[in-house]
Amino acid sequence: MRLSSILFLLLWIDSARPYKILVFSPRFSQSINNFLGNIADTLVDAGHNVTTLIPIINPNLRDGTHKSNKIYVQSTEEVKKITESMDFEEADFFEYNDFNIVTSAPFGQAFMSWVNAQCTGVIDEPGLVEKLRMEKYDVMIVENFEACGVALSHLVKPKSLITSAGSVPMGYQRIDFGIDDALSYNPSVLMSGVDVHSMWSRALNIYANFVFLATWYTCRTEINALFKHRYGPEFPSVNEISSHAAFTFINGEPLIDFAAPTLSRTVLIGGIGAKEPKKLDKELERIFSHRSKTVLISFGSIVQSHALPLQVKHNILQAVSRFPDITFLWKYEKPEDDFATVALANTSNLHMLKWTPQNDILADERLVAFITHGGMASTQETALRGKPGLFIPFLADQPRNSGMMERNGLGKVYYKHDLHDAEKFYAAVKDLIENESYHNNMAKIGEMIAQKPFSAKEMMVKTVELAARFGPSPALRPQSFDMNWIEYHNADIVAIFTLISLLAVFVAVKAASFLLSRVISIVKIKVD
Ligand SMILES: *[C@@H]1O[C@H](CO)[C@@H](O)[C@H](O)[C@H]1NC(C)=O
Ligand SMILES: *[C@@H]1O[C@H](CO)[C@@H](O)[C@H](O)[C@H]1NC(C)=O
Ligand SMILES: *[C@@H]1O[C@H](CO)[C@@H](O)[C@H](O)[C@H]1NC(C)=O
Repeated sequence: MRLSSILFLLLWIDSARPYKILVFSPRFSQSINNFLGNIADTLVDAGHNVTTLIPIINPNLRDGTHKSNKIYVQSTEEVKKITESMDFEEADFFEYNDFNIVTSAPFGQAFMSWVNAQCTGVIDEPGLVEKLRMEKYDVMIVENFEACGVALSHLVKPKSLITSAGSVPMGYQRIDFGIDDALSYNPSVLMSGVDVHSMWSRALNIYANFVFLATWYTCRTEINALFKHRYGPEFPSVNEISSHAAFTFINGEPLIDFAAPTLSRTVLIGGIGAKEPKKLDKELERIFSHRSKTVLISFGSIVQSHALPLQVKHNILQAVSRFPDITFLWKYEKPEDDFATVALANTSNLHMLKWTPQNDILADERLVAFITHGGMASTQETALRGKPGLFIPFLADQPRNSGMMERNGLGKVYYKHDLHDAEKFYAAVKDLIENESYHNNMAKIGEMIAQKPFSAKEMMVKTVELAARFGPSPALRPQSFDMNWIEYHNADIVAIFTLISLLAVFVAVKAASFLLSRVISIVKIKVD
C-alpha cells in the first residue's frame, strides 16, 4: 500500500471513531440546562461518548440531558446556605428594574456569589480534576454566562475548548468571544430596540450595556481570583482562556435576530434547545378539547405568576373573561391561593397549571397565541412552532428577545407596567388573536427556518467533530484579544489627528489675525 493511502486510512479511522466529549453544565438556569443538555444528547445520538459535569447550584431545576453520562457535584455548605436565603418563589420581578444600578448591582453580585461559590466545590471535589484530566477529552463544551467551566478547562486540558452562550451573548460573553458590540445599532440585551437615528436612543443603549457589565462584574473577577489564588498568579484569566476556544456556539436564530457582527468561529445553533414535541397528555387534551382555540399564558420559570401584583392578576383575568370562546391556559404556580380559587370558580374558560410542557403545547394546532415573558427559549419555540406572541419582558435578555420578535412582525412587545391598564391589555390580546399579519409572518418564518440548508443539529455535530479532530485553529482567533483599549479603538490615531487639526486651526487663526491687524494698521495709516 502506498504511504498516502495508509495515511488516508488512518485519518478515516480517526474521523469515524467516537470522540470523548465533556459538557460543563452548572445547574443554575433551566434554559441553559436545556440548551447544553440538548447539545449533549444530540452528540450522543451522533455516536459520541459524552459526559456532562453538573455542579448543583439550584436543586429545584431539572437536568437538561437524558442520554449522556453524568457526574454530579453536590452543593457545598455555603451554596446551600445562600440557596436557603434566596426566596425565588416570592421574588418581585415586577418592580425590579435592570436599569436601576442601585438595585441591579447588588442583585447581580448576590446571584454570582451563589453560582461562583459552587465553583470552589468543583475544584475541591476529591480527585475530580485529576480524573477529568486523565480522560483526555477531545472536546470540552462550557457555558460562558458564568465562568467556572472556562477556568476549569485549563486544568482538564481537552484538545479543544468550545465556548457557548445559552441566549444572545450578554456583556462579558461578547468580550470573551471577541465579538464587537456594535452598540450604535445592535441592541443591548436590556433594550427591545435602538432607534438608530435618535442620539438619545443610542446613548441609552450604551448605558444599558454599561449597567449590565456593572451588574455582573463579579462573574469574571471572582473566578479569576479563585483560580489565581489556588493555582498561582500565572493562571490565565477567563478572557485569555476563552480567546483560544476552537469555536463558540450561540443559541441564536439569524432569521429572527437583529443582524449584528459575529466571527467565523461563532456558530449560531438557535433552536437546538427545542425538543421534538410530544402529544399532549390526558389532562391537557381535556383542556384543549373545550374550545377550538387555546391561548397559553406563561412567564417562565423565574418570574412567578402568583407573585405578580394583585391588580395585575385581576387585569389579566378580566381580559380572559372577555374572550368566552377561547380557552386560556395560565402557568400559575399556586392554583390553590385565594386569587386563583376565586378566578377559577368564576371564569369557565380559564385553566391553571403549576407547570406546562410549553414546547408540546406550542406545537398543538389548537394553540393560537402565546402571552410570554420573552425568554430566549420561548421566543425560539414560538418561531419554530409558528405561533404569534405578546411579549412582556421582565428582566435580563427578555427585552431584546421580545424586540426582535416585534421587529419581524411576529407579535408585539408589551411593557410590564402597562399590565396595570386593563383596557390596554385587553386591546393588545385582541390584536394578538385577531390580527392575521402575525400569523402570516410566523408561518413564513417557520417555513424558512425549516428550509435552511443546514440544521442547527448538523452544524453543531460537524463543528464539534472538526474541533475534536484538529484542535483549535489559531487562524480563527482575532488579534483584538492582544490589543489594549487604545489600540482597539485607534484612540492614539484619533488623538494625534485631533491634536494636529487643532494645531492647524490655531496656527491659521493666529496667522489670520496677524494679517488682519496688519491690514487694519495700513488702512489706519492711510486714513490718517
Ligand atoms: C465512555 O467514556 C467513559 C469514560 O472514559 C468510559 O468509561 C466508557 O467505557 C466509554 N463508553 C463507551 C461506549 O466507549
Ligand atoms: C366571583 O363570583 C362571586 C359570586 O358570584 C362574586 O361575588 C365575585 O365578585 C366574583 N369575583 C370576580 C373576581 O369576578
Ligand atoms: C396588524 O398588525 C400590524 C403590525 O402591528 C399593523 O400594522 C396592522 O395595522 C394591524 N392590523 C389590524 C387590522 O389591526
